[in-house]
Amino acid sequence: MPPLRLDRILSEYTSYSRRDGAELIRKGRVCADGAVCRDPSAKFDPEGLYLAVDGSERILHESNTFLLNKPAGFVSATEDPRERTVLELIREEDRFPALFPAGRLDKDTTGLLILTSDGALCHRVISPSRKVWKTYRAAVSGRLTEEDAAAFAAGLAIDGGEICRPAGLAILSAGAESEALVRICEGKYHQVKRMFAARGKTVLRLHREAVGRLDLTAGPAPGQYRRLDPEETALLFEDPEPLP
Ligand code: URA
Repeated sequence: MPPLRLDRILSEYTSYSRRDGAELIRKGRVCADGAVCRDPSAKFDPEGLYLAVDGSERILHESNTFLLNKPAGFVSATEDPRERTVLELIREEDRFPALFPAGRLDKDTTGLLILTSDGALCHRVISPSRKVWKTYRAAVSGRLTEEDAAAFAAGLAIDGGEICRPAGLAILSAGAESEALVRICEGKYHQVKRMFAARGKTVLRLHREAVGRLDLTAGPAPGQYRRLDPEETALLFEDPEPLP
């Protein structure tokens, strides 16, 4: 990354404005790579920089992309007047101003949610034209059949007349309650629930297992999150293994 002025680094990577950041620097309250720096115009490469304000240290990263294992009960938003948001699950020092959920999981849906401060990455994850596959495990009321799978594969018409892109449905168990893996490459509002509703089924539980080839097998635990490195982030855009 090209070097940036320290006051700009503070304004881009912390919640301080450029003016407040410059003031903190002049007062000697900012350390960069272990030494106090009182010059707001001093330049540093932000990637991997050890930055401390009033002794509270953090390592900067060019992009902040986190993998959250979302529990039920949180909405996928940065703020909400009534509900708890997924941002509340992120520690204060990681709540970068531009941090945003890349797509939405409903309040009662659990599982893999990406939060990123990289707008282009966010767009790439959610844009249907990029064909990023999202895999869900769903428990539904009623018996799933191969006709349901064929209808998913053909492109379902859901309520309101919207047509879904062809989707995958792998039935894991069928009975009064059935379990299945569902794979879609778009994110219409309540899409999976509306797809099952179009087939006369109600979703009882919904859990996102994977986006692309990135899944939750290496953690984190429900309610926890971890930073993704560039190699793991790239897995989001790889085609997953075929459904069973
Ligand atoms: N589809 C839904 O219906 N809900 C979600 O949370 C995600 C996909």
